[in-house]
Amino acid sequence: MRIFITGGSGLLGSKVAEIALERGYEVYSGYNSHKPEFGEPIKFDLANPDSVVKAIDDVKPDVIIHSAALTDVDKCEVEKELAYKINVEGTKVVAEMAKKLGAFMVYVSTDYVFDGNKGMYKEEDETNPVNYYGYTKLLGEKFCQDFCIARTCVIYGAKPASGKVNFALWLINKLEKGERVKIITDQFITPTLNTNLAKMLLEIAERKLKGVFHLAGATRVSRFEFAKEIARVFGLDENLIMPAKMSDINWIAKRPRDSSLDTSKATKYLNEKPYDLMKALKVLKEEMLR
Ligand SMILES: NC(=O)c1ccc[n+]([C@@H]2O[C@H](COP(=O)([O-])OP(=O)(O)OC[C@H]3O[C@@H](n4cnc5c(N)ncnc54)[C@H](OP(=O)(O)O)[C@@H]3O)[C@@H](O)[C@H]2O)c1
Repeated sequence: MRIFITGGSGLLGSKVAEIALERGYEVYSGYNSHKPEFGEPIKFDLANPDSVVKAIDDVKPDVIIHSAALTDVDKCEVEKELAYKINVEGTKVVAEMAKKLGAFMVYVSTDYVFDGNKGMYKEEDETNPVNYYGYTKLLGEKFCQDFCIARTCVIYGAKPASGKVNFALWLINKLEKGERVKIITDQFITPTLNTNLAKMLLEIAERKLKGVFHLAGATRVSRFEFAKEIARVFGLDENLIMPAKMSDINWIAKRPRDSSLDTSKATKYLNEKPYDLMKALKVLKEEMLR
């Protein structure tokens, strides 16, 4: 299988590329400003349609995993034009190229398409984004109706990617240094280990499963509970974790209160099941010790 991964330098895309290589696939890793660790690097810019067309046309993939996006939620709120170009128009061109070349596409979308008033969202639940990032990702979904739309939630993993550390790594680092952290108790999520998500996405690509899938961790927790579990599994001092409220944080964009995803469809149909939090953190720990 010849596979083109957009966002090959990112937290998710880099893991998809790593596992796809292990499975013997021909892997092309699309990136913009950070050279990917795995796969044949292909530099392109989602904000520039010609460069998207060229990158995909050069590779002529059988499968596209479209993981790249402007993921900085506050930046999307401030730089709306850029967010629209990358997340909406960029996705449109990727989907058009997939159709033109007869490739199968998996579009990685987000829990932020929901307003967060309900939680444990199912695939058919009504979308209603509360910020511009969620709005652009939802518009991106419209171009991918003939393919697979995979919504996920708070990704974490063993390594920094795309020049950033994820929440789990940030927390472990702080606690190891004996620093206190304030973590919110009133935001609920289904945190997702990148390795588990990458395997689910690759299975979907291998089996060419169409439709919407919620691919996330199987355990709903508050951010605070998530942090406490990480501390326990890594043998760090959980008393350094202090409770805070969403209203204490100076976010520019509004966040959903409970954007947890119901993953029962994925559990039913996929061989690679969504991990519960304990299993995911054990795998994370093993990966970090490697
Ligand atoms: N992280 C989460 O908690 C989360 C939650 C729900 C959904 N998602 C979705 O999951 C996907 C993967 O997220 P992630 O956390 O792995 O992202 P990430 O680590 O922030 O990486 C973003 C990727 O997109 C690429 N990219 C950004 N702008 C680009 C442009 N103009 N042209 C080409 N590539 C560009 C980046 O490339 P360079 O670094 O090389 O510039 C990078 O590889 C995204 O679609 C996101 O919306 C993420």
